[in-house]
Amino acid sequence: MTNRLGVGIVGSGFIAEFHTRAFRGVRDADVVAVSGRTPETVRRVCDLARELRVGDPTGYGDVRELVRDPAVEAVWITTPNHVRVETVRAIVEEVQAGRAELRGIAIEKPLGRTVAEATEVLEMVEGAGLLHGYLENQVFAPGVTRAHELAWDRGAAIAGPPYLARCAEEHSGPHRSWFWQGEKQGGGVLNDMMCHSVEAGRFLLTPPGTAKSDWLTPVSVDATIACLKWSRPAYADQLVERYGPEVDYRRAPSEDYARATVTYRNGEGHEVVVEGTTSWSYVGAGLRLTFELLGPEYAMAVNSLDTEAKVFLSREISGGRGEDLVEKQNAEGGLMPVLPDEAGAYGYTEENRHMVTRFLDGAQPSESLHDGLLVTRLLMGAYLSAQEGRRIDLASTDLSSFVPDVAKGAWRG
Ligand SMILES: NC(=O)c1ccc[n+]([C@@H]2O[C@H](COP(=O)([O-])OP(=O)(O)OC[C@H]3O[C@@H](n4cnc5c(N)ncnc54)[C@H](O)[C@@H]3O)[C@@H](O)[C@H]2O)c1
Repeated sequence: MTNRLGVGIVGSGFIAEFHTRAFRGVRDADVVAVSGRTPETVRRVCDLARELRVGDPTGYGDVRELVRDPAVEAVWITTPNHVRVETVRAIVEEVQAGRAELRGIAIEKPLGRTVAEATEVLEMVEGAGLLHGYLENQVFAPGVTRAHELAWDRGAAIAGPPYLARCAEEHSGPHRSWFWQGEKQGGGVLNDMMCHSVEAGRFLLTPPGTAKSDWLTPVSVDATIACLKWSRPAYADQLVERYGPEVDYRRAPSEDYARATVTYRNGEGHEVVVEGTTSWSYVGAGLRLTFELLGPEYAMAVNSLDTEAKVFLSREISGGRGEDLVEKQNAEGGLMPVLPDEAGAYGYTEENRHMVTRFLDGAQPSESLHDGLLVTRLLMGAYLSAQEGRRIDLASTDLSSFVPDVAKGAWRG
């Protein structure tokens, strides 16, 4: 076994670039291949990898060609949600036919658009005997992991385990057309971003070093969804101008606001709660991630916009639009937060380091596709709750064939 891992990135869009930047902080892996639908974006990610000296990747137009490259020992799947199942199927077929040899597969959130899709992905990957990681970056974000460790080591060790986690992810809307389309993406902001918040909350409520599923038993979920901003006529028209008639929020909106409350029974038998709030209708400086953990005599809090660096630009300065200060930036003037290393702060660097180390060691990552499947179950329970206006008992509700109205294009807000 070599002590470096050759990584192939499948997909060449927004998150593929973030992962490429994150590999700067991973000493024992190289980005050796990138595949994507459009040669220009594949070239851009390959050039970025060379510029950052994280590899000298070969570009491919087809995922099957990428996995046949003997330099590729593990793949990071970053294709859109609606091609997740077919992407994984192609890879697994190559492995099972003996045309590709992989140590592991890491898959971006959400694992599937439904429980059925997420289950199929997990079964295909395990059927091929591959190690697997679920790419939920927020549970690797250094601010979150360090404050989590301190809250448990200093607070919970003396006063008892925490009982409430509050997590939110908010910005002003996604960057590509397919995210806005319920049928392609699998829903709206609940599917897109609540996957982060529920998993971050589950992580926070679990003692460091313990498997989340050993400590927390899911009990129920209760949720609300709404389209607060983007179905207003002027904003719906903006979406059509930006993305064309397939994003029509006057006719078929997706939710741009969601809140969910998930209750668990913890390892001591107590009820504990995760509150998640996500929105595409938040307008602040840019992407805002917040995390809180509350216990009997202690609390921790993280806010990604409370940055150590800020810039102030007076009204005399009218700069062009950019995302150079913070992801999903909404302004170029006034007092603005600056995140100098977003890939690090949001957790991608530590996430990639963890996956690479585990794959090299022949061990299963701590965040696996089993976690991804549970998250999908929680999200589907949340959609069912929002649709039916009732709390969903997770032990007795069969969600295996449930498809949310938003994902069918049948939700009207
Ligand atoms: N962890 C996070 O914070 C985070 C952030 C953004 C996106 N994501 C996830 O990553 C995935 C990709 O999101 P993104 O923002 O990079 O999307 P994107 O549209 O920017 O990029 C997707 C890439 O996949 C490829 N692709 C597109 N359509 C395809 C098709 N039909 N068949 C094959 N390949 C295709 C293309 O190379 C494209 O560049 C999604 O599942 C999304 O949920 C995660």
